[in-house]
Amino acid sequence: MNPIRSIKGTHDILPADSQNWQQLEQIVRTVCQRFGYNEIRTPIFEETRLYSRSVGENTDIVSKEMYSWDDKDGKSITLRPELTASVVRSFIQHNLGGQAPVQRLYYMGPLFRRERPQKGRQRQFHQFGVEAFGSENPEQDAEIIAIAWHILLECGLSENATLHLNSIGSPNCRKAYREALKNFIRPNLSLFSETSQKRFETNPLRILDTKADHEQKMLKDAPKVSDCFSDDDMAHFESVQNFLKVMNIPFILNEKLVRGLDYYSRTVFEFTSSALGAQDALLGGGRYDGLVETLGGKATPGIGFAAGMERFLIAMAETEVLSRESKIDVYFVCLDEAGLSTALSLANKLRQAGFNVVSDPLRRSLKAQMRDANKSGAKYALILGETEMETDSIVLKNLEKSEQETVSQKNILEKLRNLTN
Ligand code: HAM
Repeated sequence: MNPIRSIKGTHDILPADSQNWQQLEQIVRTVCQRFGYNEIRTPIFEETRLYSRSVGENTDIVSKEMYSWDDKDGKSITLRPELTASVVRSFIQHNLGGQAPVQRLYYMGPLFRRERPQKGRQRQFHQFGVEAFGSENPEQDAEIIAIAWHILLECGLSENATLHLNSIGSPNCRKAYREALKNFIRPNLSLFSETSQKRFETNPLRILDTKADHEQKMLKDAPKVSDCFSDDDMAHFESVQNFLKVMNIPFILNEKLVRGLDYYSRTVFEFTSSALGAQDALLGGGRYDGLVETLGGKATPGIGFAAGMERFLIAMAETEVLSRESKIDVYFVCLDEAGLSTALSLANKLRQAGFNVVSDPLRRSLKAQMRDANKSGAKYALILGETEMETDSIVLKNLEKSEQETVSQKNILEKLRNLTN
């Protein structure tokens, strides 16, 4: 039989890397808690129509990237390609809006998109993100962006990161802009790529996203979305910028930033990183004031962002933030079969007292066990041999200093406590 391998675009997170993941997760939890955000966990799969209604039928995600199937009862089900839609579904289903005027939520977990795999782009990937419901005011936008900024600071990524900020206005503004943009592009439409020509009908704003130089050139004098802003749109966007300045969060205005999901209105933003390759978006988000209503809830404004955790970890590998410190306090070496019961009971006592203790289950030689102890990064080794068994004692070796002493078994817990305090 051919060996079974993981599916293309999916990755195992091996023990050598999981410590990095835990450190990133810890930073995210700490910062979110600092801002008063609480964790929400939603299912991995949802009804397909949740995504077609929210993310949008004509987006890349819904039109070609979702893992969907018909369940036995005929319902179409999809592995979640993003989390905002699920969080909004849950917000409505559990009437979270009725419980508090502002709901502040954060999440972490796996997502699924059938994209072409490359560095920083997987088919199963992970995001952390935040969503805030209840306020349409610009200080809420500033707070959401500040959370992203604080996490970037803690991760050591702020220096290489650029915040791209834009507003795509409210729905009326966007409707007018759509027409203005189409009128501008129409005379040259045949010179645009096949993808852009398709987007011309389905989602013309996405044409602004193009990476093709000749298209960028043709778009140089395209009308600006800001030309269609209402007074309120303009005031909102200006306040967001002022609040970011007050908090010393640097940003650049990027009129070409439109984001690839349909639910956005007004503020949209992305942080890119020069520490990444072609897939340089660390995180993206924006306001979605119409989404709760679109999905059947009471009209409630919302804003959030989500970040690619794999991309964070690629960028963090170049920083000093990720530590490789061993979590093992004590490596227990037992040299005599007759001592196993004593070893098990002592090791257990130490674990109950909070020490991380690893013991060798292979009954190997002293040399082999000591080699393993040093490799494990443990601070101490406890060695139980025939002589120690006879005298109810145990050898305590400081592996960093290579010094050892003999301690009575009954005092070993206290001894370790004194040494580690
Ligand atoms: P998104 O821009 O589709 O937005 O994804 C956010 C981030 O997820 C990206 O910036 C990127 O870091 C990461 N990402 C996306 N696709 C992949 C992939 N195939 N492989 C690795 N990383 C990936 C959203 O998902 C919105 N729900 C964000 C949001 C929250 N807007 C408002 N609230």
